[in-house]
Amino acid sequence: MYSGNNYIKGDFEETRNDFRDINPTTEVSLGTFPQSDPEEVNRAVAAARKAQKAWRRLSRVERGEYLKRVAHLLENKYAERLAIVISEETGKNHNESIAEVNEALHMAEYAWASAKQPYGEMIASELADKDSYMLRKPVGVVGIISPWNFPVAIGGFWNAAPALVEGNTVVWKPSEDTPMSAQIVAELYDDAGIPPGVFNLIHGNGEVGAMLVESDVNCILFTGSAEVGQLIRQHCASTWNKTCSCEMGSKSACLIFNDASMDLAIPACVASSFKLSGQRCVSSGRHLIQREIYDEFCAHFVEETKKISTGPWRDQMHFYGPLINEAQYHRVKRFNDTVRDDPRCEVLLKGEDLRGNGIKGYFLKPFVFKSEWTDAAYLRQEVFGPHVALIPFDTVDDAIKIYNDTDYGLAVGIITNDFKIARKCRDECDYGMCYWNGGSIAAESHLGFGGVKKSGNGYSSAARTYRAVTHEVAWTVNHAEGIQFPQGMKTR
Ligand code: UN1
Repeated sequence: MYSGNNYIKGDFEETRNDFRDINPTTEVSLGTFPQSDPEEVNRAVAAARKAQKAWRRLSRVERGEYLKRVAHLLENKYAERLAIVISEETGKNHNESIAEVNEALHMAEYAWASAKQPYGEMIASELADKDSYMLRKPVGVVGIISPWNFPVAIGGFWNAAPALVEGNTVVWKPSEDTPMSAQIVAELYDDAGIPPGVFNLIHGNGEVGAMLVESDVNCILFTGSAEVGQLIRQHCASTWNKTCSCEMGSKSACLIFNDASMDLAIPACVASSFKLSGQRCVSSGRHLIQREIYDEFCAHFVEETKKISTGPWRDQMHFYGPLINEAQYHRVKRFNDTVRDDPRCEVLLKGEDLRGNGIKGYFLKPFVFKSEWTDAAYLRQEVFGPHVALIPFDTVDDAIKIYNDTDYGLAVGIITNDFKIARKCRDECDYGMCYWNGGSIAAESHLGFGGVKKSGNGYSSAARTYRAVTHEVAWTVNHAEGIQFPQGMKTR
């Protein structure tokens, strides 16, 4: 059985049995974890605040050395254990858990290397005797609130690693669905000798997240639902000293044009919709298909989707596993029911419920339907499950219009060999990540990861987290004997 504890100021504190960590594959408890109280949250933030003074005074290269040790330990000591715990807690197939550990490793390596990269710019002044620079300074204490779907890579690495290299200290509140994955990451940072208070972990549900948002942090890095992200943004706006980076949901899509190769389009679209049971922020809940190839695409898509299996990750390499928890399982079923009851839709795959009849685990088979683009809410809301709409369109302009006609804008796949179409989509679709001749998944750590509209507030994650955890300052030096001003301004 797992048991977890908060990690504050370099100490793993007492364990408590406040909440259970449920295995979504078996519905059995994996262990218990503490629900942090306000005193613990504030103590973790105070420890981070205190530790930040000395941490930021280290050289950037010295801070990078800690990430080097973290990367080495992750690769050589923790990788296998982490991959198993990720699969236990999320139900992800083992290949995807290993991929997630690799994604985390790539970020640790990137952060370590970034310590030796330029972190400012020298900029010419109009005055010959003046030097000017743009430099980045750490914001201070960074609170991290991360989701269950990438329980190691996002909070522990995409967010924490750049924050630390830049001279911030962190307090991390991971998802209550995957506390053990985060617990092991805290052990790893501790093992790497990170100084007490520089990296802190507090367990608990959204109430603990809210406490962290309202605590004495300078910045919140949040990945989760748009509704929670909006509350965080509102709170930060009501303060003078808090900023936030919010990575939120999507109604991502692939756009498949008449010339698309089916050999490329079908596997790209199946993976975009069903990897991780459609529970990635970038999962395609809809595909838009040009009318001439609509029937052909739908037939192939259904045929290929019928071949993918779902089930417990230990049995075999299933294409995807369970929904993360009972609430999400019921939510996806409600979406399936709504579509089934709507005469405007033609259901192609029924999304059979595998739970019940002695079978445990929140398993739903793929739900696939045809629909014109209408005002229906299920075509616009994020489902976060194996549920996908196949929608026809006529012209490139129609495709772009339909794609943009949701509140979200995260990831888009464009499938065509026509560079003019691709370029128009590049410029006119609302997104943060675009995959030309790819699906809507496959982000890499050394690129930025973010979206627009309801998907993000303009601060990308992963390799672009640096912007969110620093503020830029203009640093100027006068080398003249007397005082001089630019823009022709005189002293007298
Ligand atoms: C997410 O969508 O929740 O793009 C993160 C991918 C992953 C990261 C996804 N590498 O598929």
